[in-house]
Amino acid sequence: MTDKARAGFKELQKEVLELKRELNAIIVAHNYQRPEVQDIADFTGDSLELARECVGTRAEVIVFCGVLFMAETAAILNPDTMVLLSHRDAGCPLADMIDVDSLREWKERYPQAAVVAYVNTTAAIKAGSDICCTSANGAEVVNAIPDEEILFIPDRNLGHYVSTRTDKKIVLYPGFCATHDNLTVEEVGKARQRYPEARVLVHPECRPEVIELADAALSTSQMLRYAGASNAKDFLIGTEEGMLYPLRKQNPDKEFHLISDSLVCPDMKMTTLETVIETMKARKNIVTVPEEIRVRAKRAIERMLAIS
Ligand code: 13P
Repeated sequence: MTDKARAGFKELQKEVLELKRELNAIIVAHNYQRPEVQDIADFTGDSLELARECVGTRAEVIVFCGVLFMAETAAILNPDTMVLLSHRDAGCPLADMIDVDSLREWKERYPQAAVVAYVNTTAAIKAGSDICCTSANGAEVVNAIPDEEILFIPDRNLGHYVSTRTDKKIVLYPGFCATHDNLTVEEVGKARQRYPEARVLVHPECRPEVIELADAALSTSQMLRYAGASNAKDFLIGTEEGMLYPLRKQNPDKEFHLISDSLVCPDMKMTTLETVIETMKARKNIVTVPEEIRVRAKRAIERMLAIS
């Protein structure tokens, strides 16, 4: 980054901090956000940690730097706090792969199955599910509930990964995250050739054959903990490129290489310091969830939080 760009960010960051005081706001940012956005956050983390961090905040406003389903989760858990999404259009194509009608159809097909919904779903889908899970706790959740048959929605790759860690019958809904699903066995092979000593860490939204080649399949925050505790010096990272920033920041003596340049989530990249400022200034992109949906979605999230 040039000195000019750095100075520009500093000015904008100062403005964000002033607005934060004015609004009595907290700012939370997902690990995939741009570095300069992560730097203004009170808290960064994976989706489970962000959901937890917002609970019971004394702030009047939560500025959520991430994508819509994450901000919705914050709104579900904090009905008395205004939640602002850092960019109006930042969504999650994976979350949009299942709607209420298709969930109803799948539930009719598997009436005896408990519905476990990955948090990458809309509030309405969470409301129609028995319990939520994240990439950090999928198997833990599935193994903790009494049901023997699980309808796992909407990510088939995470669902498959969970199925390798339980004896229960898992029915997979065919959704996927295009960013992770695009990562190929060939790309992992090439990266391994370049860095033969490196540990390979991938997200469980990657395809099963990619996960099989990895040393570990981990949520974003689990990657941070793994890298911090490991004796290895080199890591190949199979998740969204924003993750490189906290990994490098927390482990300056270690090297992190992205397995493929295509590991970029366009929605996560929509948020910039400018969109955060616009959002805060205008108090816009307010995320609301109808009360009837909120109450049922909250039950599914809280069941998860009680387990994990
Ligand atoms: P984490 O829960 O690991 O942060 O992942 C969230 C996500 O959306 C991955 O694509």
